[in-house]
Amino acid sequence: MRVIALLMAAGSGSRFGAERPKQYLTLAGRPILRHAAEALLTDGGVNALLPVVAGPAEGQEAEAVLAGLPCLRAVQGGATRQASVRAGLEALASAPPDVVLVHDAARPFLPAGTVPALLRALEEFPGAIPAQPVSDTLKAGAEGRILRTVPRAGLFRAQTPQAFRFAPLLDAHRAAREEATDDAALLEAAGLPVALLPGSESNLKVTYPEDLARAEASLLPRLL
Ligand code: C5P
Repeated sequence: MRVIALLMAAGSGSRFGAERPKQYLTLAGRPILRHAAEALLTDGGVNALLPVVAGPAEGQEAEAVLAGLPCLRAVQGGATRQASVRAGLEALASAPPDVVLVHDAARPFLPAGTVPALLRALEEFPGAIPAQPVSDTLKAGAEGRILRTVPRAGLFRAQTPQAFRFAPLLDAHRAAREEATDDAALLEAAGLPVALLPGSESNLKVTYPEDLARAEASLLPRLL
């Protein structure tokens, strides 16, 4: 079985507010992108990475950051995450892998066993994702006031890597009419079942500067 992991790194990181996209910032001396790549590969089952980046300069930077790892030539992404994933999938379409993983380059810590569990789930389902149950109370609101409380039972926060059999994911992207913030949503829209596996609090996405501080703090015990 051939498994390729798309490493999604084409975002501008505008919410983070740094001059450089957050995936190139360093965490314990190594770029976040490198942490994400190594964690994916050491978990077992992934044959090669395909970085999806913002442009040619970032492509060179990503390839330098990922030097020595099994990595295909970087592909240029699009204006939205969905367009970036589509670009990565289309780049693979002429020699399609059996399975594709889609992972945020901004997630440096992948709990061990995540990839094997996702691949096992694909024996039964066309797609599988890790997700964490929502623990905060959820409010719908507008203009500074609460409209209502949303029951959180049965609600989950979707994480990555998300795993898919290649053909149904490519078809779902080509058929997509609306913008989705993850890939599982496109399979759902196509009426296909997606397995929900336990996620982890440690699989955090660096979105805001305080996330970088949190990530560094969680790394400290491993460095000492
Ligand atoms: O914006 P968000 O935090 O959801 O982005 C998740 C991941 O998707 C990031 O690793 C980011 O680099 C990537 N992304 C992308 N192309 C975009 C927007 C985001 O590859 N146009």
